Amino acid sequence: MQILSIASEAFPLIKTGGLADVAGALPFALAEHACRVVTLLPGYPTVMRAIETAGADVEVLPLDTVLGAPARILAVDLAGLKLFVLDMPTLYDRLGGPYTDAGGHDFGDNWMRFAALSKAGAMIAQGAVPGFLPDIVHVHDWQAALTPVYLAASNRPRPKTVLTIHNLAFQGNYPSAIFPQLELPAATWSIEGVEYYGNVGYLKGGLHACDVVTTVSPTYAKEIVTEGSGMGLDGLLRGRGSRLVGIVNGIDTRVWDPASDPALAANYSARELKPRIHNKRALEGEFGLRRENGPILAVVSRLTWQKGLDLVAEVCDELVERGVRLVVVGSGEAMIEGTFQAAHSRHPDRVGVRIGYDEELSHRVQAGADAILIPSRFEPCGLTQLYGLRYGCIPVVAKVGGLADTVVDANYAAVSAEAATGVIFTPPDRASLLEAVDRTLGLYEEARVWRRMQAAAMKADVSWTKSARLYAGLYSDLMKE
Ligand code: ADP
Ligand code: GLC
Repeated sequence: MQILSIASEAFPLIKTGGLADVAGALPFALAEHACRVVTLLPGYPTVMRAIETAGADVEVLPLDTVLGAPARILAVDLAGLKLFVLDMPTLYDRLGGPYTDAGGHDFGDNWMRFAALSKAGAMIAQGAVPGFLPDIVHVHDWQAALTPVYLAASNRPRPKTVLTIHNLAFQGNYPSAIFPQLELPAATWSIEGVEYYGNVGYLKGGLHACDVVTTVSPTYAKEIVTEGSGMGLDGLLRGRGSRLVGIVNGIDTRVWDPASDPALAANYSARELKPRIHNKRALEGEFGLRRENGPILAVVSRLTWQKGLDLVAEVCDELVERGVRLVVVGSGEAMIEGTFQAAHSRHPDRVGVRIGYDEELSHRVQAGADAILIPSRFEPCGLTQLYGLRYGCIPVVAKVGGLADTVVDANYAAVSAEAATGVIFTPPDRASLLEAVDRTLGLYEEARVWRRMQAAAMKADVSWTKSARLYAGLYSDLMKE
């Protein structure tokens, strides 16, 4: 099967969050199921530089104009991925991240940047690249969600489409004034099309137009059809019935392997856990934490309301009173950053804070900390708990979305059966979080119980194996329709 995957980020080329990890890892796992995936990415400067630096062979394929601007496709194999890079310098060759300028503000023309990505995807899906015709087009999030809309609106043969929701909070809604520039037929300005309360809704349109909607965990799939968690789209999603499927994310177990990870002070495994302590000592050194026997709790995350990290920031003093040391790596809302920084000033050798994004450091934290706190208010899947499991960094998580699907709570039965892999709490509020921390500290004090939990966590299957099979099955079912 030939698959065209369309995403606005893919690890290791460009990453701001979990979407990149998924778009970068799933193609490898799908290869085992005879799915050949080519990923269409925007030609951001970092991607163009990576192509240059690698000295990779590039095939240049001219496209006609895309939404009125000149465009080319660079076909290239990079970091093991087969890529189509959409080279449109007017849209993508600029400073900043994939979505924001150097000051962190959204680009004012993101509607055009990602409409162009989606339109180019639709053109490729219908034969714009000679010799390439996909059986399935799999698009990710609002940035690629117009591809199924363009395809459904065309009267030429088209492949089947799958749209994966990674986060319903980001929908790509824009004023109606942009509609004429999207080059969509007038009929798509409707309830069945992209019209959404008088605006243009990219995700909304895609959810209607695609053949199957997937999201990244079974529990999130159930949550988003409810009014409380559907972010305005629950009615539409309910209407899709069995065409909405939850498939939990895996992780790239080659990139995330404590037995061979080059970023670590010491490598270790479930069978050989002892060397892990060297990573803890190194982490204490790196963050200037006092060296003592108690546990180190960690946060590696966007610092946002979704992630519930305002709750952790507010209880730093209580954590310190309990003898906990805390390591925070992340960036996001200024209030949360500031609260963590203030806690660091009050407790410089107990609360370590790095504001920013650092991929290698995130590996060292998972290898050196004892537990990772993830008190999300909602979490489509979450990957940091999976990295925590794999690295024996016990996840302490809120009972939502993919967190609830991937962690086994250390209740009495699970501990007795040596099946527990973490601590789950609900609701995501300050009192439950502190209760969960107390439970975690109790487990930590029972060294044998803790070691067994770590071993069970590290043996949990967090790979893509099962989920890649589900995606491949879904693709082949669609092809038979
Ligand atoms: P989301 O995509 O909602 O942010 P996920 O848990 O799915 O949440 O994925 C987040 C990804 O980003 C993980 O790979 C995590 O390790 C990484 N990450 C988040 N913040 C940082 C940071 N400050 N430094 C390094 N990696 C980070
Ligand atoms: C989104 C979600 C996160 C998920 C990731 C990858 O960023 O917030 O929960 O793990 O996408 O699917």
